[in-house]
Amino acid sequence: MKSVNVRLGDRSYDILIGTGLLGQAGRLLKYCGFNDRLIIITNPVVQALYGNTLRERLSADGFRVTILTVADGEEQKSLDVAGRLYTQLGDCYAERTTPILALGGGVIGDLAGFVAATYMRGVPLVQIPTTLLAQVDSSIGGKVAVNHGKLKNEIGAFYQPVLVISDTATLKTLPANEFASGMAEVIKSAVIKDSDFFTIIENNRGKIKALDDTALEEVVFRSASIKASVVIQDEIDMSLRNILNFGHTAGHAIETVSDFGVEHGHAVAIGMMVAAKIAEKLGYFENGDLIRLKSILEGADLPLIMPELDTGKIIMAMKHDKKIAGGKVRFVLPKAIGEVFITDEVNMSLVEEVISG
Ligand code: NAD
Ligand code: GLY
Repeated sequence: MKSVNVRLGDRSYDILIGTGLLGQAGRLLKYCGFNDRLIIITNPVVQALYGNTLRERLSADGFRVTILTVADGEEQKSLDVAGRLYTQLGDCYAERTTPILALGGGVIGDLAGFVAATYMRGVPLVQIPTTLLAQVDSSIGGKVAVNHGKLKNEIGAFYQPVLVISDTATLKTLPANEFASGMAEVIKSAVIKDSDFFTIIENNRGKIKALDDTALEEVVFRSASIKASVVIQDEIDMSLRNILNFGHTAGHAIETVSDFGVEHGHAVAIGMMVAAKIAEKLGYFENGDLIRLKSILEGADLPLIMPELDTGKIIMAMKHDKKIAGGKVRFVLPKAIGEVFITDEVNMSLVEEVISG
């Protein structure tokens, strides 16, 4: 087992990473001071794969466990579904000290996290991420949210978990496209902060694809360490945390213009190539860095080519993104592999040239 400590004063917590950690969840939860009631929030897919076994094990360890299930899918991140969960929590007499365990991917983590942050003004939250994206990104850093109309992830809070348990064995049942989506965030982490990690991914493509236990642990550990190091410096996303959006400026616009027909990881992969090409044209990201990025994304079965979408609409979507600063489109550009900078001074005609080129 590997661990990363997210140092945030009295909101500090550990991210525990390892194969088969779900089997040790009872011991880990007791170590955190929990010993009675637990609420698991999950979806039917994850419940069938892991939730029922986890409940049996936790019951055998002496916990009283209630599972609350929501349907699978991004639409579940809503105030309506959160409202239904509040009712169910009330009906089963969940108290302020009763922890909520978010068992699933980023959708469950964000929704259950939002409910944990708001039910009785906050109950303890344990993230148990089961997708690669959730283990390397969404379970870490405390962003919890639901969607509301056009407001995606904009009704939420910063609410740190008390523990993250990342069982890398759960990644073995992930559909291939979900694994590839998570790899986009893994590669993003390496480009923004850790060139050694980038080389490790390059040299271990085969093992990562084969879901080798040691390789998966290393990938999740290194990515989680990078995210934690950013979060502890800028918990509430005022400056540095923006670097986690490398690839997301064009990525979000592609998702929006394609009406979410292009999935997140794929859009981020294309967005990273857009940012890298802009950087190269500005004199950064030289000496074969662009070729290495292209090759590592291809090796992770991620697309590189902009889909057939209207360039004007993509530019417009970027201008309307919530992350624009003072009306200017903000980009995270790579100087080299392992180092990025944030700028809102990129000429939009250059962006248009790269996107349509
Ligand atoms: P997801 O939660 O929808 O999970 C993807 C699919 O995999 C689902 O069908 C799910 O049921 C299934 N699944 C989960 N674990 C599985 C397993 N081990 N085996 C087989 N199937 C499994 O998608 P995601 O990519 O994990 O998360 C996306 C969400 O995360 C979005 O809502 C996004 O906004 C959010 N997000 C949040 C943050 C943050 O900082 N809070 C960061 C990035 C993304
Ligand atoms: N996923 C971006 C962040 O956590 O800030």
